[in-house]
Amino acid sequence: MCFSPLLPHNSGIKKTATIRAGRRSWADIPLAHGQMTDVRLGRIVRLLTEHATVVVSGTKIAQEISSNRSEVWRLIQQLRGLGVDVVGHPATGYQLRAVPDLLLPEILDPLIRSTIFESQVHHFYKIGSTNTAAMAAAAEGAPEGSVFVAEEQTAGRGRGSHAWESVRSAGIYCSVVLRPKLPPSEVLLLSLAAGLSVRAAIEQVNAGMNLDLKWPNDLLIDGKKVCGILTEMNAEATRVRHAVVGIGINVNQSGFPKELENEAISLRMLTGNEWSRVALTAALLKSLDWEYRQFIERADARPSILRRFAEQSSWVRGKQVRVEENGAAIEGTTEGLDDRGFLLVRNAAGVQTVLTGTVRGK
Ligand code: BTN
Repeated sequence: MCFSPLLPHNSGIKKTATIRAGRRSWADIPLAHGQMTDVRLGRIVRLLTEHATVVVSGTKIAQEISSNRSEVWRLIQQLRGLGVDVVGHPATGYQLRAVPDLLLPEILDPLIRSTIFESQVHHFYKIGSTNTAAMAAAAEGAPEGSVFVAEEQTAGRGRGSHAWESVRSAGIYCSVVLRPKLPPSEVLLLSLAAGLSVRAAIEQVNAGMNLDLKWPNDLLIDGKKVCGILTEMNAEATRVRHAVVGIGINVNQSGFPKELENEAISLRMLTGNEWSRVALTAALLKSLDWEYRQFIERADARPSILRRFAEQSSWVRGKQVRVEENGAAIEGTTEGLDDRGFLLVRNAAGVQTVLTGTVRGK
C-alpha cells in the first residue's frame, strides 16, 4: 500500500482495539487494502464539533484520546492534510473553522441510529476498493450491516471490469455487507432495490433532481451518470453466503477527465452548489436500511421493487436499446422486467431476456 506524501496516513499508529495483533479476524482483512482510519481522528473531530464556538485546549483533547499534546499536534496536522479546517496550535488550543464533510464513524453514527449499519462504519482515508475490502471482510465473518467507506479509492471498480474514478473527498465510495437468506437468483432484485434507495436519498437531500434509473442500476441525470452500483456475492448454488452492495456517487466533483466528460456528471455540477457528503451518506444508509428490511421481511417487497423501478426508469419500457456483453449484442425495444428483475427486450427474434450487459440507448 503506497500513500501519497500529501495524504496523512496511519502507518506507525497503534492499531485500534478492533484490530488485534497476532490474531486473524475479519477486521485484519482490510489492512491488506488500506489502513483503517485511526479512531482518534474521529474523536478529535467530534470533540471540536461539540465545542465549535470555543478553543479547546490541547490538554483536553489529549485527555479525550488518552494521549499527550504532541500526539494531538501530530493528529491535528493529519486532519489539516485531509482538508479539515482547524485553527490554533499546541500553546493555545484548537478550534474548527467549519464542520468537516468527512465520512467518519463519529460523524455518521448519530445520523444512522436504529439502522442495521449503526456502529458498523469502517472508514478509510485511502483504499484500493471498498468493495474488495468488504468482500474480503465478509468472507472472514464481518457481520451484516458492516459499512466500508473511503475518502479515496486507488482501484475503484465498476461493473464489467471498468474502473471507477474515485478522487479524494469528492464522491461517496461506500460498500455494505449483507447476509440475506436468498438464492443467488434473487440478488439482482436486491441490487435494483439499492438503486431505488440511492434515488430516494438524493431526492430527500434535494428534491426535484430528475433522476432516471438505467437497468440494472445506474442513476442518470440528463443522460449522464451520477451513481453506479456494483453488487457482488459469494454464494453456493442455492444460497447466498454474503453480498456486498458497492455504491459510488458523484457528489462534489467539479469536472471529470476528458474520456468521462460525456458520460459522468456530479450533483454539484448539476445544482451549482456543494453537497454535504455526510448528509447524503446518512440518507443513503437509512434508505438502504428501509429497502433491505422490506426486502427480507415482506412478501410483497419483490413486486413493489419491480413496480417502483419501472415507474422511476425511462429505460424499462418502450426504449430502443443495444445491450452489449462479451462482444455479443442484442438490439430491440425494452418491454419491462421479468419477475426476477431481468430486462426484456423485443426484436425480430421475439422477446429476449437480458441477464447482464451494458445497456445503451439507440
Ligand atoms: C458501475 O457503475 O460500474 C458501478 C460502480 C460502483 C462503484 C462503487 S464505489 C464504492 C464501491 N467500491 C468499488 O470499488 N466499486 C464500488
